[in-house]
Amino acid sequence: MDVARPVLLDTCLPKAHPPAQTRIVHTRDVSETDRVDDDRTPLEERLKYQSDYFAYLESPTNESRYTAAIDPLVRLFGGDLRVLDLGCGTAMLASLLPPAAAYTGVDHDVEALSAARDRAPSAELVQHDTIDFCTRSARDGRRWHAVTLAGLLFHNTTPDGTEHFDDTELLRSAASVLEPDGVIAILAPFAFTDQPERSMWEQAAWKLATVNEIIEQTWQEPVDLVHQSITRQIGIETAIASQTQHPDWWTGADESPTSRFCGHYLATIVTVLRPTRR
Ligand SMILES: C[S@@+](CC[C@H](N)C(=O)[O-])C[C@H]1O[C@@H](n2cnc3c(N)ncnc32)[C@H](O)[C@@H]1O
Repeated sequence: MDVARPVLLDTCLPKAHPPAQTRIVHTRDVSETDRVDDDRTPLEERLKYQSDYFAYLESPTNESRYTAAIDPLVRLFGGDLRVLDLGCGTAMLASLLPPAAAYTGVDHDVEALSAARDRAPSAELVQHDTIDFCTRSARDGRRWHAVTLAGLLFHNTTPDGTEHFDDTELLRSAASVLEPDGVIAILAPFAFTDQPERSMWEQAAWKLATVNEIIEQTWQEPVDLVHQSITRQIGIETAIASQTQHPDWWTGADESPTSRFCGHYLATIVTVLRPTRR
């Protein structure tokens, strides 16, 4: 099947990166400020799925977060593709796949999987660690056309969220369970505001650089970049306005007071790649 030439965002994005403080907000392992998250207990991890913490992410208006990745996968493998969704959460991605697709979702969070079962009753849903699941599957000879990492890169942790696993190991594990022509789809969401220094383009440049850096660290030889794009989530403003909890990825202390959650919106960098060597 023909594949469109990749959209290389590097060429149309500003080179300047946001100030260091902005980086702190989005990554979990670089600052004192962000280490607040590391105190999260397993209970708190579970509670986030019972609250409205993820409600706006799961709003139907946010489907573009997933469809931007699903479209190239369906173009590559057809509607009956087999997808492994690592860190599947509540399996939003499953509900947007074509009906003939086979979906396996893996997550270590019980509450998330419970919600996933309601959403996708016919899906294979497994409570397991992501990397270990891939190790066992590779050993058992299981293979998928596509492995999706939606919001998992930079967030692949122990169940209590206190320890981060190596993202290069995560990507190599994902590659180990691919069909020979299989691909990895990385969906990397990021926040932006209406402030010029934290505009979508500034934040996108930073996020794109961090994703590309991990890919380069993982595979020394160039990978086949099938698709790379940025998607702004449609309708996010309304959803954020109705949110009652402050998301833990935004400190917001120095934000403009124009809205309760300071006018930050989400967009997603989608990268679909075919590793050259497994
Ligand atoms: C940011 S959420 C994204 C959820 C979902 N993919 C989505 O797009 O809504 C990350 C998910 O990965 C899961 N997770 C993180 N580290 C994991 C690991 N090592 N093993 C299994 N699941 C993990 C978390 O429980 C959480 O549900």
